[in-house]
Amino acid sequence: MPVPAPVLFPPFNIVRLSHVELGVTDLARSRAFYADLLGLQVTDETADAVYLRAMEERGHHCVALRRKPAPQVDVLGFKVFSEEDLDRAQAFFSGKGIETGWIERAHQGRTLFVCDPFGTPLEFYHRMDRLPHIHQKYALYKGVKALRIDHFNCFSPDVDASTQFYTEMGFRVTEYTEDEESKRLWAAWLHRKGGVHDIAFTHGRGPRLHHIAFWVPNPLNIIDLLDLMATTGHVGAIERGPGRHGISNAFFLYIRDPDGHRIEIYCSDYQTVDPDHEPIKWDLKDPQRQTLWGAPAPRSWFEEGSLFVGAELREGVLKAQPIVAP
Ligand SMILES: [Fe+2]
Repeated sequence: MPVPAPVLFPPFNIVRLSHVELGVTDLARSRAFYADLLGLQVTDETADAVYLRAMEERGHHCVALRRKPAPQVDVLGFKVFSEEDLDRAQAFFSGKGIETGWIERAHQGRTLFVCDPFGTPLEFYHRMDRLPHIHQKYALYKGVKALRIDHFNCFSPDVDASTQFYTEMGFRVTEYTEDEESKRLWAAWLHRKGGVHDIAFTHGRGPRLHHIAFWVPNPLNIIDLLDLMATTGHVGAIERGPGRHGISNAFFLYIRDPDGHRIEIYCSDYQTVDPDHEPIKWDLKDPQRQTLWGAPAPRSWFEEGSLFVGAELREGVLKAQPIVAP
């Protein structure tokens, strides 16, 4: 299927991705991972939850960790432009026969909860507690010094269908991988905020969360993190990289948190805000799409992901497979 045409005046206005709520089994262990290795700042703690933000974020949190019996993903959060956009979002989802609900969330105003047609739990809000800026408080910087959350990447059993639905919500495709034989999408990267993506879909059993990415300013942050992890008992949590992506042109590293949730450290992609920005097409068989320098990703990278709470899994519709490291 061809990439859908962008919807430049969408039914409601999403500003950007905002936050993720992760179920973790050992709150103290996960707190140490996100605060000490990623360098996120703890903004609130309760007996069962830890909230964190990255260094240039003014909103209260980009990650909420919640103590759960097993690892899971509770919700992916998005900020909308105005309160009226929340009502327009509810009308959009209701018009598609999707159940909607207004929920209470700490540190957020009115919050709309829905599951997308594939079972992914999503929430939308306009107001979140605002905090003083800390991006020039250099004494606070730790670990990889993450500046902001950058994107979600999700396994989708039908990337064409996911891309179509998120395009209707106003997300615009910047790059995509096509299976040359079936001419169907194997992966797609879609944005709202003017970078390469706020959310991406990768073909596979889903819906599952593939990874959450955090933005850092330069590759040396990633090298420093590798040295830190290698000498503080975290070498086994390094999964893939460092390297340069073909898609997005970003410098990257993939690591796993203590429950296996995959985290990407993502450095320096490019601007895509023009309304007539044309997507870049990649062939699934081109190893340089994964890593510009040619090294294929490990099998775990294509197979392992985090479960969304309540979502029913479906197998992928395509037989095509990418090149995998032996
Ligand atoms: Fe990514």
